[in-house]
Order: sequence, then structure tokens, then C-alpha cells
Amino acid sequence: MKNMPLAPVKYKHVAIKTIAFSLLAAAWVLGAGPALADYTAPRVPPLPKYTQECAACHVAYPAGMLPAASWQRMMGTLNKHYGTDASLDEASVREISTWLKANAGTYRKVREEPPQDRISQSAWFVREHREVSAEVWKHKAVRSAANCAACHTRADAGDYSERNITYPAGLGEKYRHGWND
Ligand code: HEC
Ligand code: HEC
Repeated sequence: MKNMPLAPVKYKHVAIKTIAFSLLAAAWVLGAGPALADYTAPRVPPLPKYTQECAACHVAYPAGMLPAASWQRMMGTLNKHYGTDASLDEASVREISTWLKANAGTYRKVREEPPQDRISQSAWFVREHREVSAEVWKHKAVRSAANCAACHTRADAGDYSERNITYPAGLGEKYRHGWND
């Protein structure tokens, strides 16, 4: 199932009270609600081939975190994959591409193709991580913003919820401001 935009509220014949409640509910969903829902919900069970081939060097990034165009470009250039060669046989490329396309992010925030087709350069990613200081990203306990699992303890299962974020071990207390794990 793909990420679905919110169903439009039908105003006709709806009592004012109901409208007010709907707007409140919508505001909760869009704003203070579970932000994760915007990028990954509903979480799709990963294609076994995807986990096998694309989680060898890093976590299996959720398909819903990049738009289809970014996945497509990436799958077409696996021999030059962020400074490494991640080439696969044609059948695997086809199978994974089809699955990524079907499960790519379609939600408003994810629709935009980020620089270098990196999740870690998406506008929403930058916003969600504004409390994380530059030193933390570069620290040897993290190394890269792409290393989600350094902080998201259940990233391998596609779970990025706030309750499963931890301050990386070995980082020292110095950068801890803004963390509430
Ligand atoms: C040989 C190792 C290797 C394999 C296999 C591999 N990758 Fe990567 N991938 C990398 C490296 C290295 C980076 C850059 C990480 C960094 O910047 O710290 C990367 C980065 C990425 C990023 C961007 C992360 C970000 O910054 O948001 C995505 C998305 C990605 N890979 C998807 C895939 C997919 C899809 C596959 C399977 C077809 C795959 N990778 C297979 C090594 C690999
Ligand atoms: C250095 C640690 C660190 C790394 C690495 C990291 N994150 Fe995060 N992430 C955080 C922190 C801290 C928050 C903010 C939690 C908060 O607002 O309380 C966050 C928030 C998020 C959220 C929003 C969660 C929510 O429920 O609001 C998502 C989604 C997310 N990160 C995805 C990723 C992905 C995908 C990667 C890898 C490409 C990644 N993060 C890498 C620390 C990290």
C-alpha cells in the first residue's frame, strides 16, 4: 500500500461542531502528531531481495523515504553508488526497482527529489534533525548522517520513532543538549 494523503474532509451537510473537530484532528495529524507517519506509514514489509542486496553496507532504508524518481536514478547508477560499486545482476535490479517504485514516498514532503538522492539531504530530514550538531554527524561514533542505526536503534526494522532513538555510545556528554532519549 502506498502512502496516502489525508482524505479530504467533506464539508457539505456537516455540523459546525464536526467541522471544528475535523480541523483539530487534521491539525494534529499534520503538525504535532506522529511525524513519522509522513514519511513511512504505512510501513511496508521489505522485499527479501531488497534486504539481501541493499542492507549489506547500511540499513535497508525505507522505500517511502525517497520519491520514485530518486530510486529510479539510483538503481540505474549502482556501479557509481556514493563512491562505491553496488552493481547487481539485471534481474535483481529489475525486481528491486519495481518494488521501490511501487512503495516510493508519495506524501507531499517526500515528493521532492533531494540533492544526490539522499534521504539525509531531504528538507524534512534536515528539519527533523536540526537539534543534532555538526560535530555529532562527523563524530566517529556516527560518521555520517546516512548511518541511521547509530541513533535509531531499530532502523534495521524501519522503525524511526522517537522512543527508539538513543544518544550514540562513545560520543561523550558534550553534545548532549537537545537530546531526550
Ligand atoms: C557495497 C556497499 C553498498 C551496497 C551493496 C549498497 N549501498 Fe547504498 N550506500 C553505500 C554507501 C557507501 C553510501 C554512502 C553512505 C554515506 O554517505 O555515509 C550509500 C548510500 C545510500 C543511500 C543514501 C543515504 C543517505 O545519505 O540518505 C541510499 C538511499 C542507498 N545507499 C540505497 C541503496 C540501495 C537501494 C541499495 C541496493 C540496490 C544499496 N544502497 C546498496 C554503500 C552501499
Ligand atoms: C546522530 C544521530 C542520528 C542519526 C545518525 C539519524 N538520526 Fe534521525 N533523529 C535523530 C534525532 C535526535 C531525532 C529527533 C528526535 C526528536 O525530535 O525528539 C531524529 C528524528 C528522526 C525522524 C523523526 C522521528 C519522529 O517520530 O519524529 C526520522 C523519520 C528520522 N530521524 C529518520 C532518520 C533516518 C532515515 C536516518 C538515516 C538516513 C537518521 N534519522 C539518522 C538522530 C539521528
